[in-house]
Amino acid sequence: MTTRVLPATPENIALAADVLRGGGLVAFPTETVYGLGANALDPAAVARIFAAKERPATDPLIVHLSDADRLHQVARAVSPLDRALVETFWPGPLTLVLPKQPQVPAQVTAGLDTVAVRVPDHPVALALLAAAAVPVAAPSANRFGRTSPTTAQHVWHDLHDRIDLILDGGPTPVGVESTVVDASVSPVRILRPGGIPAEMVEAVVGPVTVVESRFGDEEGLPSPGLLKTHYAPQAELVFCQGPGARRALLVELETALQAGRRVGVLALDEDAAVLEQAGAVVYRLGDDLKSVARHLYAGMRWLDAQGVDLILARDVGGSGLGLAIRDRLTRAATRVVTTA
Ligand code: TXA
Ligand code: MG
Repeated sequence: MTTRVLPATPENIALAADVLRGGGLVAFPTETVYGLGANALDPAAVARIFAAKERPATDPLIVHLSDADRLHQVARAVSPLDRALVETFWPGPLTLVLPKQPQVPAQVTAGLDTVAVRVPDHPVALALLAAAAVPVAAPSANRFGRTSPTTAQHVWHDLHDRIDLILDGGPTPVGVESTVVDASVSPVRILRPGGIPAEMVEAVVGPVTVVESRFGDEEGLPSPGLLKTHYAPQAELVFCQGPGARRALLVELETALQAGRRVGVLALDEDAAVLEQAGAVVYRLGDDLKSVARHLYAGMRWLDAQGVDLILARDVGGSGLGLAIRDRLTRAATRVVTTA
């Protein structure tokens, strides 16, 4: 199959909606990352998502809606807490786990009786969802185990000739995936930190618990033996945490350079000059959390493309978007250095 890449004009969005209604696969921008969409009510179309991504069938998908008013099409009951979250954060990077309607195929939810749902805050995504007029199941549009795509080029790199169409709407503004919330338990649980900070969720529902990021657990990493081929970034990633993280990163850099390795760093702007002088291949993430989140995945892909053997990164703190950034770096890491 030849994958078309089209700019996200109104005509091409209408064409993409037809592809979705016809059972095809369309990659499209959301405010977080690019999604790989299929009609969520068409089991054969949903099965094609898993095939294209090489994603295990045990990993459930997020259903995207154009409007919260359509929630009843996929979810059965919406509690007052869920209602408050919907009203506060949709459209936006918050995904709710809700009891599913029987018409949502088991493929979408990996057999669970709950379904994850969100209304994305991106003009192209909203126009596409409205034109398709069906709920759209969409995981991130990357090959399983790789870094989520934040540009149409990233999607092309991973999925060309496996999907029908890529709508190019430019780089995605948030850069990390949505916050996944289960408000059916008390206290409310954040299953995945993301684009809506935990503090903002707490302002609506009270104190929350956050499921701990597991080291090396990106999308249920099958086994360490598969790291080299099934993991993103391709290079080894060492994540330095704690009060001495900056110093620890410099030590890791010097040690690796002395061993003759080519080292890339996902660097805060304030560290960039020192790291370049020391001999690292530097990707500048910016100097605030929004910028770091927006550029994190692009940075991993860029450093891989530079052919580095090792990528270093340091923690940016656990507040606001920092929690999602920390979660993704922890999952991507082959080694975590924790300093006292
Ligand atoms: O920002 C995003 O959420 C992006 C864009 C495309 O919307 N999508 C995304 O999808 O990140 P994916 O498939 O890469 O991640 C889906 C997450 C996984 O962590 C999955 O376990 C969780 O949502 N999830 C889906 N259905 C669930 C359910 N019924 N219960 C609990 N977690 C669920
Ligand atoms: Mg994903």
